[in-house]
Amino acid sequence: MATLKNDVLAALAEVASPDGVALPATGKLSDIVASDDGKVFFSITVDAGAVKQWEAARARAETAIRALPGVKSVLVALTAERTGGAAPPQRRPQGPASGPRAGTAPGAPSAPSPAGIPGVGAIIAVASGKGGVGKSTTAVNLALGLRDLGLKVGILDADIYGPSMPKLLAIREKPQTIGGNRLKPIERHGMPVMSIGFLIEEETPMIWRGPMVMSALTQMLREVEWGALDVMVVDMPPGTGDAQLTMAQQVPLKGAVIVSTPQDLALIDARRGIAMFRRVNVPVLGIVENMSTFICPHCGTRSDIFGHGGARREAERLGVPFLGEVPLDIAIREKSDAGLPVVATAPDSPLAQCYRDIAARVRDGLQVASRPAPKIVIEA
Ligand SMILES: Nc1ncnc2c1ncn2[C@@H]1O[C@H](COP(=O)(O)OP(=O)(O)OP(=O)(O)O)[C@@H](O)[C@H]1O
Ligand SMILES: [Mg+2]
Repeated sequence: MATLKNDVLAALAEVASPDGVALPATGKLSDIVASDDGKVFFSITVDAGAVKQWEAARARAETAIRALPGVKSVLVALTAERTGGAAPPQRRPQGPASGPRAGTAPGAPSAPSPAGIPGVGAIIAVASGKGGVGKSTTAVNLALGLRDLGLKVGILDADIYGPSMPKLLAIREKPQTIGGNRLKPIERHGMPVMSIGFLIEEETPMIWRGPMVMSALTQMLREVEWGALDVMVVDMPPGTGDAQLTMAQQVPLKGAVIVSTPQDLALIDARRGIAMFRRVNVPVLGIVENMSTFICPHCGTRSDIFGHGGARREAERLGVPFLGEVPLDIAIREKSDAGLPVVATAPDSPLAQCYRDIAARVRDGLQVASRPAPKIVIEA
């Protein structure tokens, strides 16, 4: 809404930068997004060395905007730009799975790998080329499976376009702030969880411009009190476009789990997903075949609705591990919709066991991914 945007700009004119310049005059603000329903987002891009000095100005900007009539939520993110010169050495994450990345793929972008999150051992992405194949459901149950193996696990919902964690984990509360500028994640089933969906009202179509994607992700990664984690599971948005590529580069990933249904069309997209992670030198921990087979709950007849075994064959063909199958089962959908993931609420079921088996392979794969991975040849 143009008037809200004007109000925001007027409010920001009263907020000074660390050098005493009114924020809109600094030239460091991204385009301001102010939606009809009172949501305001923008980022301030500053030099990496000046982030600390800018934090107070960022917080003052948020406070000033929050005080405006009609404003429901505000997200002002500081993003750091490293200009020229050699990047400082990156500290690799500490923990059971720390170690060097896989070898550089030919033609890979030469961006420096992002720094780890202090206290977080391994960050893994759950991704797919195609939408709706069950990434978010897999991410939650995989996280719970890793938890059941005795690991301390957190979940980051990186699907800023269509966050799923509020629903899948029945989370309605808002995260608390700590010390004014850090957020406390929501705890569920013994795991800290963060999602943009906790900060923004549900059902809002979200439009994100390039820099906003990065700043929202950066905030959720670095301005949240994750505590000590062995593994952070990141639920990625669908697709293999620029936004996903940016995310894969922004998040210091130790590996990626690709979810696919068995049919050819989904597998083509899964292949694209694998190629994308290869481009940014993230080891592919393997493929999960979701909605693999359907056993009729009434007559016990098995039907392979989307085919069966396609992801296993594809994994073999591409030389990446096959992590396991999850059947198409109405209990998974019903429980997901109710915010009651099967591994937490039916831990003795065969379905929960499927996810725990996948989790064990992922954990083992993370140890392998700590060593230089063998080269994988991807056919276009
Ligand atoms: N194995 C399964 N059996 C039955 N239903 C499933 C299974 N896996 C996922 N679903 C259901 O399929 C739908 C899509 O799943 P989900 O939201 O996890 O997919 P997604 O890949 O994350 O989607 P998006 O691309 O929109 O993020 C949900 O209703 C979910 O409950
Ligand atoms: Mg999803």
